[in-house]
Amino acid sequence: MSKRFYITTAIDYVNGQPHIGHAYEKIIADVIARSRRSLGQEVFFLTGLDEHGQKVQQAALAEKKNPQEYCDAIAADWLTFAKRLELTNDDFVRTTQPRHKEYVQSTLAKLQATGHFYKASYIGFYSAREETFLTEKDRRPDGTFDPSYGEVVELKEENYYFKLGEHQQWLIDYIEANPSFVQPDYRRNEVLGFLKNNKLEDLCISRPVARLNWGIPLPFDPEFVTYVWFDALVNYASVAHAHNELGLWPADVHVIGKDILKFHAVYWPIMLKAMGLPLPKQVLVHGWWQKDGARISKSTGNVVDPIAVINEWGLDAFRFYVLRELDIGPDGNWTDAGFRSRYQSELANGLGNLVNRSLSMLKRYRNGVVPAQSNELAADAAKASDETRALLKQNQLQSALQSIWGLVNRANQYVDQTAPFKLAKDPAQAQRLDEVLYNLAEACRVLAVLLWPFLPGTSTKIYAQLGLPGAPEKFDASSWGGLTAGHTIGEPAPLFPRKDV
Ligand code: MSP
Repeated sequence: MSKRFYITTAIDYVNGQPHIGHAYEKIIADVIARSRRSLGQEVFFLTGLDEHGQKVQQAALAEKKNPQEYCDAIAADWLTFAKRLELTNDDFVRTTQPRHKEYVQSTLAKLQATGHFYKASYIGFYSAREETFLTEKDRRPDGTFDPSYGEVVELKEENYYFKLGEHQQWLIDYIEANPSFVQPDYRRNEVLGFLKNNKLEDLCISRPVARLNWGIPLPFDPEFVTYVWFDALVNYASVAHAHNELGLWPADVHVIGKDILKFHAVYWPIMLKAMGLPLPKQVLVHGWWQKDGARISKSTGNVVDPIAVINEWGLDAFRFYVLRELDIGPDGNWTDAGFRSRYQSELANGLGNLVNRSLSMLKRYRNGVVPAQSNELAADAAKASDETRALLKQNQLQSALQSIWGLVNRANQYVDQTAPFKLAKDPAQAQRLDEVLYNLAEACRVLAVLLWPFLPGTSTKIYAQLGLPGAPEKFDASSWGGLTAGHTIGEPAPLFPRKDV
């Protein structure tokens, strides 16, 4: 039996509310998870929260809460958010859970015992906001540090370091030998460029309790807590360990944003090597959303609130837009006008109109009873199905949607060409009308199957309107001819109400 397909997202910091960037990443992972299940694989989909570290400690302090209380309150919001997106995650990790903390500590103990760490004293600059040490190289030409680092202070402190440096050549060789390890290609090249042109510094994996106490204590030195990124990355393995019986590790795909590439494609593989674990098959890197051409920022109010969009337009319209508009890789730009335009043309006038007029005509002209099978659109449907299957296996979600819309457009064109409303007026054309109505209803059914990973609600509605039970969860059901003569469909209803804007 093939191994369960294990897919993860980045775990989000709990220092604020979810925005479109978080939603986008989780939807990518959900569509991949649903696709694999639809294609017959067993899947384990993990998402969750990154709860330790300075950012969270400060956010809790600002609300005068103790960090755990603060995290518990925000975690409830994020869980609600995951449900609102209809994510099919199999687990939800919080790095404050005992199962995770214990695994991090046993990992640290093992790496300490096998000589991967050393203690050293450091004098230099530190950005609390980014929780990172800075060097002279990080200064701008005018000698200052980038404002994104916030206040930068000079520190002298002892810490534990992980010997990253000695694995540099191994990692370069690994990435060169495994081109699919980091995708898309230009992200792999970015990692290779970084590794070939810089000496890899050892990684500081501790913070003194005196300065930061919201973290996992080092098992071998109570004066220190674990650096938040070491703690966070381990979530992928700690949860796999918690479900040991499923044999999840290694992960198949880590879905992440471009800003955290170095952590996932440099630090994490080296950590895994030291831990004696195989590397994940792929780090899949998506771009960043902007809004109206500017960076998303709470302080300037330039945000897209996913919940507000979903409340107004429906979840599937939101899922559709983010995946259809933006391929996995480049940066994207949200505009309200762009969103409305895709809603109107592709969802309401495209898919929605096709399903509604096809089923309404079948209802009106044939009392909702499916005529004998006819295969005029069978080749078009098979083409969309074959292409979609291949694209889903390569996580090419945007292209898969384009291919599916090839069938939507073909079927709408078929309505215009065959003009069933005219055929219905001529009793001599009854057989021709039967053929047309079968092709249209069956094309709608095939579309429901192909769309299931992307638009689960809509696809289930199409099935219900076709009078078919359950959800079209299995890709194999996309073979032509699923509707049988004599079957009575359900009630047609608009899928994407037109909005006058
Ligand atoms: N906690 C770390 C990740 C640890 S993973 C072991 C973190 N959290 S985050 O909340 O800042 O970001 C979570 C994810 O959201 C990241 O993959 C990040 O790239 C993504 N995004 C944050 N803003 C984004 C956009 N504007 N657009 C798209 N994705 C963005 O980093």
